[in-house]
Amino acid sequence: MSLQQDSFALKGNICYSINPREVYCGENCYVVCAEGRSAGVFRELPEQFSKLHVYDCGDCVIIPGLTDLHTHAPQFANRGMAMDLQLLDWLNTYTFPEETKFADLEYARRAYGMFVHELKQGATTRACIFATVHVPATVWLMDELERSGLCTYVGKVNMDRNSPKELVERTADSIADTTAWLRQIDGRYSRTSPMLTPRFIPSCTDELLRELGHMAQQYQLPVQSHLSENPAEVAWVKELCPWAKTYGHAYDKWGLFGSTPTIMAHCVWCPDAEMELMKKNGVTIAHSPSSNRNLSSGIAPAKDCLDAGLKIGLATDLSAGESSSILKVMSDAIAVSKLRWRYIEEQTPPLTMEEAFYMGTIGGGSFFGKVGSLEAGYEFDAVVIDDHELIHPQELTLHQRLERIIHLSAHCHVVKKYVRGREIFL
Ligand code: GUN
Ligand code: FE
Repeated sequence: MSLQQDSFALKGNICYSINPREVYCGENCYVVCAEGRSAGVFRELPEQFSKLHVYDCGDCVIIPGLTDLHTHAPQFANRGMAMDLQLLDWLNTYTFPEETKFADLEYARRAYGMFVHELKQGATTRACIFATVHVPATVWLMDELERSGLCTYVGKVNMDRNSPKELVERTADSIADTTAWLRQIDGRYSRTSPMLTPRFIPSCTDELLRELGHMAQQYQLPVQSHLSENPAEVAWVKELCPWAKTYGHAYDKWGLFGSTPTIMAHCVWCPDAEMELMKKNGVTIAHSPSSNRNLSSGIAPAKDCLDAGLKIGLATDLSAGESSSILKVMSDAIAVSKLRWRYIEEQTPPLTMEEAFYMGTIGGGSFFGKVGSLEAGYEFDAVVIDDHELIHPQELTLHQRLERIIHLSAHCHVVKKYVRGREIFL
């Protein structure tokens, strides 16, 4: 094997998800990165890799990079506050006024710089990100993300109805701006990709959705949006689209519900028919438990979705979600699933730690390809976590240390990070 920059080994305590029920935990093991992909995890370094440089991570814990399937970069300013309203009032009172500021590129540069800095410092290596309607600010966000070394999808938001005058687009302008945006970034990045982003049904006319559906087909672009988040929102969609059998059908009609790879955030209030359509169309669910709690949206049936074989990963949904940490979201997913078990659905037990870890790694990572594990063949996204603040005289297994990292992530530090085999300097 030739010695290359993207070929090396890490030595440390290695954890990765095998499936939703099992986590591999190997103490003092090696994980080999060969040309940007994992060549496997080993107790002893195989002879064929003996010439590789080995970085000794000491007693740290090495996990796959985490995927945030849905977040809003411009809402970073509002994180950790303004969570006293439900979705529709929250959008009008706090969120739309903040997003309006991104017409000013100077403001956008400062605000997006802070968002990208925080994303880079944490355990997330992949993310699907909403920008705003503004093209120059969106391109600047993409430039900054590309510089960060993370792998991301980014969407210029489309919204042509039921939105404040500072944000609402004319339908033709929304399409023209989206086309201009795609032209401007064509061929510009290796780690940053565009994603069509109709905000949600209440803010997009049928005409806009039809055009976006054509663009998705024509350019084979992935799609991201919101689905069945809040009861008042779902009722409003019924009024706006009386012809639609479900909220999801209002996207599906225009080819925006799995015709190309598609992420739908929330999915708290999906009727069975909507879940079935998501399964049939291969739509990925971005489970956002922290956001759903903060906006009193409800508790999504994440465990049922996993068990039914739907594609599901985790999302911070900043700033409805208060934290940019997917470890925190794993902890919240487990916590709210216990309330669902107690109060809503006695027959479905809560999520386990293994299931939450699976959703935050392979579950979301799969949207990006072979991503989210350290097993041989996966793209080498790895995070080295120092959990020494959580160590106690008691004996702990590596599995217990991982559980504690998930639930007490604020006491852990990311000390090294790799994306596609390249080190991200923190
Ligand atoms: N639905 C439409 N826009 C938004 C948003 O910005 N955040 C959340 N949580 N839901 C939405
Ligand atoms: Fe959202």
